[in-house]
Amino acid sequence: MKRGKFITFEGGEGAGKSTQAKRLAERLERTGISVIVTREPGGTPVGEDVRELIMRDHPTDPVTELLLFAAARAEHVTSVIRPALDDGTWVISDRFMDSTRVYQGKLYGLEPEFIAQLERFTVAPDYPDLTLILDLPASAGIERAQLRGTLSRYDAERIETHETLREGFLEIADAEPLRCVLIDASLTVSSVETAVWQAVSSHLLAEAD
Ligand SMILES: Nc1ncnc2c1ncn2[C@@H]1O[C@H](COP(=O)(O)OP(=O)(O)OP(=O)(O)O)[C@@H](O)[C@H]1O
Ligand SMILES: [Mg+2]
Repeated sequence: MKRGKFITFEGGEGAGKSTQAKRLAERLERTGISVIVTREPGGTPVGEDVRELIMRDHPTDPVTELLLFAAARAEHVTSVIRPALDDGTWVISDRFMDSTRVYQGKLYGLEPEFIAQLERFTVAPDYPDLTLILDLPASAGIERAQLRGTLSRYDAERIETHETLREGFLEIADAEPLRCVLIDASLTVSSVETAVWQAVSSHLLAEAD
């Protein structure tokens, strides 16, 4: 049994992560690959409870938030992601560890080394095979999220905050070019889908044959 591939979508609010995760899954399924789509925070009953708790109670201490995300991630990896990959199923996660690096690390200033250590406990050795970073100017992302009609608490933040987040994702793409592909998310949904498919084909499908 060939191990499944692990793909994550990352990027700012309204960049199109959920839209593209769904489209990629449909496309992979059409090629006969078994695939699941999951999300963070969430993906398991514990994770969804943590998601609700964070959205509802807005922890004020960034460390509290970091550890809640880490707890949800540990459960997500051990009970959903790893078993699926072991089983030959591909996994697409709508946000994953890079969101923690950017929100809790870059934005809230928590130590990168502590975050990396948590990753080693919660994710290793199942780091994503491919991370698609959807890049969009902050103002365009907020506009999309507003059009969609749901605003997360981050949507209400200042534009500078969103630019900091964008920078954080760009830094990750720069630092890990083998794992990450930067995608111009300002294009139409179908152009972004094509770019995503090209990245998946060249990075993962050739070797999966
Ligand atoms: N390429 C695109 N061009 C224009 N609109 C888009 C594009 N991609 C997605 N949208 C629209 O923008 C809104 C946000 O998209 P989506 O929910 O996929 O983003 P997201 O990255 O998952 O956002 P969030 O971080 O808030 O979960 C949706 O209404 C979606 O239909
Ligand atoms: Mg989404």
